[in-house]
Amino acid sequence: MVSERKPAEVLVASNRGPVSYTRAADGTLTAKRGGGGLVSGLSAIGPDTDAVWVCAALGDGDRAAVRRTGGDLDPDDTGGQRVRMLDIPAEVHAAAYNGIANSVLWFVHHMLYQTPLEPAFDTDFRTQWAAYEAYNAAFADALAEAAAPGAAVLIQDYHLALAPGMLRALRPDLRIAHFSHTPWAPAEYFAMLPDDIQRQLLRGMLGADRTNFLTHRWARAFRSCCRAALGPDGEIAEARIGVYGLGADAGFLHERAHRPDVGERLVALRAQVDGGRGAAPARRTIVRVDRTELSKNIVRGLHAYRRLLADHPEWRERVVHIAFAYPSRQDLAVYRDYTAEVQRVAEAVNAEYGTPGWQPVVLHVKDDFARSLAAYRIADVALVNPIRDGMNLVAKEIPVVSDAGCALVLSREAGAHEELGDDALTVNPYDINATADALHAALSMPDAERAARTGRLAAAATALPPARWFLAQLEELRALDDRSC
Ligand code: G6P
Repeated sequence: MVSERKPAEVLVASNRGPVSYTRAADGTLTAKRGGGGLVSGLSAIGPDTDAVWVCAALGDGDRAAVRRTGGDLDPDDTGGQRVRMLDIPAEVHAAAYNGIANSVLWFVHHMLYQTPLEPAFDTDFRTQWAAYEAYNAAFADALAEAAAPGAAVLIQDYHLALAPGMLRALRPDLRIAHFSHTPWAPAEYFAMLPDDIQRQLLRGMLGADRTNFLTHRWARAFRSCCRAALGPDGEIAEARIGVYGLGADAGFLHERAHRPDVGERLVALRAQVDGGRGAAPARRTIVRVDRTELSKNIVRGLHAYRRLLADHPEWRERVVHIAFAYPSRQDLAVYRDYTAEVQRVAEAVNAEYGTPGWQPVVLHVKDDFARSLAAYRIADVALVNPIRDGMNLVAKEIPVVSDAGCALVLSREAGAHEELGDDALTVNPYDINATADALHAALSMPDAERAARTGRLAAAATALPPARWFLAQLEELRALDDRSC
């Protein structure tokens, strides 16, 4: 019952929550808890706090859980975390999430459009935009209702760009931060959006006291967009913009990567890589682990590997490209097509170069975190070549976990490049031949150099682990003047 809820001093809001439900045929609901930086960040503020996480119901299982609980999830399902799940009507959520967040805002910030034909902002777009407004308003209402006077509210990502402004209007007493986990588009690209939409998005985010980003580059791009779209109102004081480069969680990764399930997968993967080679030296590995996401550039990565095998026959039979490409956003046709293309190109490389004892590309598409960690451990080379990426935590995790050290081939367009660029082999993600050259250099790197670079990469990658990343933002908000009186 609403009146009995204890108002919260700290609130987090995100589209995807820390738990999701699946419903079996007999109606039984099973909860699955997710990982990631926000989960470990929020748990860092301690079990005694009354922090509330507000998220959206994403599927039928989630909706059933909301109906059963009234929206305040059973703490047994959430590891004790207070989670308020919103049952936004399915068609509103679909239009806001797939239509606007994933097909417009994600495309703008990652510069994914094929511009001769898209984007085209028409009446359908306006209908979806109205759903995006309604979805943001539902979050703002829920946060306004759940927050104690002067509470700190940390709103996440492009799904919720309007919520800070809406919440500010409802509750001027709150201290609000917004965090973008994506890149931010250059001003010229952002300007493709209709003028009123540009202004609404920027003003929505500026409703927060602090607008935070993963890198200085994305923060600068945001400020340029404000200047270009908002005129004199768009001169944003530097103090209102924060940069918090989310890092890897070394303690968690080391512990998790040495559990027996990872060990089993490591043995199986090693056997798959080495085939029936008996006592021959272990083959080298080039490892990539991604969601099958348009921005991750998996297809060009495969073409670069093919180029490596063509230009450097000495690597044939001696290297295997381990590519884990886990399905993502399969509601969208362009993602399904991309997934098919990844499989087609991997099969083409295997058909062209494979031999009875050597499969050049080992592609797995079924998400398995333990197997990902096994691949991290045996990586000689990590390939992280996104065309644009907010941070890319894989680039940070592999150097931390790899057993014998790995060389990192890293796109200059990944946010992680700002921190890891000095010890990575930098690539232009569109340049397939240059990426092939970088793979060759990485495979040829002397052991001592590789070990030294890996040590420095791991140190940089863990500079701001999730708990400190979250607490730093929270402390900054709490340090603002008390507005509740
Ligand atoms: C990545 C991005 C986040 C985003 C998330 C959404 O992790 O870095 O910015 O919120 O994807 O993914 P989803 O599967 O929920 O659409």
